[in-house]
Amino acid sequence: MSTMLEVSGLTHQYGQGERAHVAVRDLTFTIESGQLACIVGPSGCGKSTLLRCISGLIPATGGSVRLHGDEVSGVPDDLAVVFQDYSRSLFPWLTVAKNVEFPLRWQKVPKADRKRRAEEVLESVGLSGVGKKYPWQLSGGMQQRVSIARALVSRPALLLMDEPFASVDAQTRGELEDLTRRVQRELGSTILLVTHDIDESVYLADRVLVLSKSPAAIVADLDIALPADRDQITTRESEQFVSLRSEVARLLQSPQVQRTGEADTTDAAHAAGESGDAAGARTDAGSGAGSDRFTETHGTAESSDETATARS
Ligand SMILES: Nc1ncnc2c1ncn2[C@@H]1O[C@H](COP(=O)(O)OP(=O)(O)OP(=O)(O)O)[C@@H](O)[C@H]1O
Ligand SMILES: [Mg+2]
Repeated sequence: MSTMLEVSGLTHQYGQGERAHVAVRDLTFTIESGQLACIVGPSGCGKSTLLRCISGLIPATGGSVRLHGDEVSGVPDDLAVVFQDYSRSLFPWLTVAKNVEFPLRWQKVPKADRKRRAEEVLESVGLSGVGKKYPWQLSGGMQQRVSIARALVSRPALLLMDEPFASVDAQTRGELEDLTRRVQRELGSTILLVTHDIDESVYLADRVLVLSKSPAAIVADLDIALPADRDQITTRESEQFVSLRSEVARLLQSPQVQRTGEADTTDAAHAAGESGDAAGARTDAGSGAGSDRFTETHGTAESSDETATARS
């Protein structure tokens, strides 16, 4: 596997002087090609800021982001983003097909190719036949499928999703989760997805990154070694799933996540540096100085070590 995304010492500060607010500080991790990684963390910890910096929508105030080796300094052509609010991200005056084709027009893809690719991708998200409708003629879940289709149509190297299913009902959410996993496997996409839903993070991901309170630091990096074929009922009731979701829940309630990051970020950076891990994507729960502190302050280090596989 090759490295798709390399985030090194990423820091973002909003404002200056007394109004300055450091949303993310010194974040370092990598995402491999074809991986589906989920990010969970407390509200306001800096998850959306992180995605905005990765997508080049806002410049990082420190550190760097590399997409397949190239430094990101503006929005890369081969990156797509799906936001939570489909009703604001689709163009209501364009048909579904035209919405999906939109990024290809930007890329100057010939008309006939645009049409064919939009039809193909709409079919892969289960929406063949609705191309001539307008977004407002579709249900919320269907509109979010259109957003996903539009993101996938340009075959992005990296797909960023910021709480993409938060505005739909529970059943639609499950369907969209399965859709995301299926298209990710079919197209070999690399996805970084932010969610508030612990179960969703475990169900979807190959890997879950747990962030601390603002300024966000990586508290744990868990391998989700569930079978690739997942099912909303059997996977979710499996012992392995229950143990992993408890692990993520415990981490989110841990003092490491709940305290305000200031000391954590420094310690996390030291732990990553001392471990000699080039990517620095280690888990405090499973390695180095952070692990010791975790054992002292939180009684679940043992179970954490079982499920949280430290990357090397
Ligand atoms: N444009 C902005 N200007 C100033 N501060 C901002 C701006 N956007 C976000 N922030 C602040 O940065 C911090 C991180 O915000 P961000 O939206 O990244 O958090 P989040 O983890 O995505 O939260 P949520 O889970 O609620 O979506 C918050 O304290 C927020 O108030
Ligand atoms: Mg957010």
